[in-house]
Amino acid sequence: MSAPKTPAACLIGWPAAHSRSPLIHHYWLRTLGIEGGYVIEAVPPEDLRDFVLRLSLRGFVGANVTIPHKEAVLALSTPDARAKAVGAANTLWLADGELRSTNTDVEGFLGNLDASAPGWDEAGEALVLGAGGASRAVVFGLLERGFGRVHLANRTLARAEALATQFGPNVQTLPWDAVNDVLPRARLLVNTTSLGMHGQGALDVEVTRLPQEAVVADLVYVPLVTPLLAAAGARGLKTADGLGMLLYQAVRGFELWFGQRPEVTAELRALVEADLTKT
Ligand code: ATR
Repeated sequence: MSAPKTPAACLIGWPAAHSRSPLIHHYWLRTLGIEGGYVIEAVPPEDLRDFVLRLSLRGFVGANVTIPHKEAVLALSTPDARAKAVGAANTLWLADGELRSTNTDVEGFLGNLDASAPGWDEAGEALVLGAGGASRAVVFGLLERGFGRVHLANRTLARAEALATQFGPNVQTLPWDAVNDVLPRARLLVNTTSLGMHGQGALDVEVTRLPQEAVVADLVYVPLVTPLLAAAGARGLKTADGLGMLLYQAVRGFELWFGQRPEVTAELRALVEADLTKT
């Protein structure tokens, strides 16, 4: 079997979900003048192993992985430290004949904050809301950047405690109803819960209690400006939105597959924003 002439990556999921990834990667392929492709592949769980192990035979240079396969691909590839710590991989690529995996949500989160709020990682404490998969990527990124204290609150405290046990003493849990007490000490507030998303409940955080130099990040991107970000903006705080993280997490996969590091431009953002508001 011979590989096709143009390199292509795919998004592996089940069922085939609507995704903005093709829009993002096609934009970069077009603007960088690279001949390549990015397609969505619907792969049921029983076919995942075969699909992933034959990725290159199928003509792919790599893949994104989404629900429900993000955990399962760890055992089918060689995960890096990020994928191992997060317990899930969203990007696969071939290097020296080996299938490797990583979790680019970590750099999506960090890259977006670097671009939106330079200096955000200067000394201070962070407060993270939520203890699901996205929270693990965020906490890993904060510890990697040297945060000495990450406060972690979750509706289900046991889930936060499990995460804190995994990540060590710099992560301290607090009950969900104690969030407002920690706000005056938080240099960075991150929402990783689904609260604030269209159709979900409201996030009850007293933004006025944050210090004036605080930065607020929300992983929710529908709506683009969540009530949390709107309140932070009204107070004059720096913010980083969920769409930025979505765009920045795509950078590394593209670079690994197609050999050039792409830029997150205002034009790309506008393109994806238009697509988000269409649905
Ligand atoms: P993800 O991979 O996006 O992090 P997840 O693993 O399902 O998704 O996690 C969702 C997060 O949103 C969890 O922290 C969840 O809290 P629980 O662990 O208590 O379920 C949080 N969340 C969802 N709905 C919530 C609500 N109504 N109030 C508070 N937290 C909520």
